Amino acid sequence: MKEVIIIQNIELLPMEKVLRDPIHNYIYIQHKVILDLINTREFQRLRRIKQLGTTSYTFHGAEHSRFSHSVGVYEITRKICDLFQRNYASKTAGDGLWNDNERLVALCAALLHDVGHGAYSHTFEHIFNTDHEKMTQLIITSPDTEVNQVLRQVSDDFPEKVASVIAKTYPNQQVVQMISSQIDADRMDYLLRDSYFTGTNYGSFDLTRILRVMRPYQDGIAFNFSGMHAVEDYIVSRFQMYQQVYFHPVSRSMEVILSSLLKRAKDLYENGQLTHDFAYETLKPFFDNHFTLEQYLKLDDGVLNTCFSIWSECDDQILKDLCQRFLNRKPLKSAKVSDQTRGLLPKLRALITEAGFNPYYYAATNDSFDLPYDSYNPASNKPQTQIELMQSDGSLIELSTVSELVNAISGKILGDERFFFPKEMLAKGNQLEIFTPVYQEFERYLHNDRLIFPTD
Ligand code: NI
Repeated sequence: MKEVIIIQNIELLPMEKVLRDPIHNYIYIQHKVILDLINTREFQRLRRIKQLGTTSYTFHGAEHSRFSHSVGVYEITRKICDLFQRNYASKTAGDGLWNDNERLVALCAALLHDVGHGAYSHTFEHIFNTDHEKMTQLIITSPDTEVNQVLRQVSDDFPEKVASVIAKTYPNQQVVQMISSQIDADRMDYLLRDSYFTGTNYGSFDLTRILRVMRPYQDGIAFNFSGMHAVEDYIVSRFQMYQQVYFHPVSRSMEVILSSLLKRAKDLYENGQLTHDFAYETLKPFFDNHFTLEQYLKLDDGVLNTCFSIWSECDDQILKDLCQRFLNRKPLKSAKVSDQTRGLLPKLRALITEAGFNPYYYAATNDSFDLPYDSYNPASNKPQTQIELMQSDGSLIELSTVSELVNAISGKILGDERFFFPKEMLAKGNQLEIFTPVYQEFERYLHNDRLIFPTD
């Protein structure tokens, strides 16, 4: 049988290009296909979507975009490929080392891994049943997108290859783990970038050192044993960022308001009570759960914020109020819920109703949990790739078995469940004093029983 040789069109730029970046200093672009992908309309759209959504309501510096994160993930991946090619280049097929023919597929997958994200992804997906991972696959494989046209210039099957790396079904696990594993280019970029733009220091770790101790092996990527402390530091940073930044109660409260206002708009739409205007036309396909890729790609933070701005002057008092709270940063208050206090929630909801708020829109429980590090557990639904250290004899050992620090936090679910409610429930001496008895009862649950504690 004749061997089929697939020829890839890998065109290099006559002169490398650089993008200036606060995290990586320079981002180096050598392939024409990478520059062409950055210049597609689907990728440029990522400039108009904030990486951290409502987090900027808590950390005002966090205005960075999915565009900057995506080029950052590309740059870390490029550095990993360079390191692998310099030190671990494959000499014979199947030797478990790095084959540099995999470089372009790795770089394209890194650059495009978040291309399907929408504005305020997390909340929007929840209300409208959209799925950014599916949209990423579609943008890469649909012949209608500029991204697909650029990828097809490499070879006809190249878009499918790039999509399969992101779907983790690509046969070369070294490439897959570069983009998605417990210590991958995606996580490393967002921790450093989010830490920098939020102005917190928790997320910083020694990227240079980690990139020095990473190495390919037959089934994926491992770390030289001497790099254990750099890897530990990364795990602890990630843990700190989740506790201090990503799970911040004020950002979550703004997400609750966003979720409520979208729910209210959807409910009004379904009852034929939503005014026909720009916001209505823009979101109609999503209310109907019947939208095209073109309609999805039109959405970004600016478009959604414009909808909220229009609704902030609408006739419906609930939608109007929720939009004003969102645009003008009027977070809900929140209290931690525990197993002992969960039974109080119906009473709290009743008091909120008594105070004149519809608890369906003005009260919510919201949980945020994360595993700082998941050591191998074959029984889990979605077993994570574990972090493997390579010892001097070439054998592999799983991180948490040798690092006491990682062992202490590994496999533990950390986070909290909170109950959100209007700030007015706690107001004293303002124009809503008419509700004072209700507040007093509400607060009695919060303070006197010492069961749940309000936060700022
Ligand atoms: Ni990402």
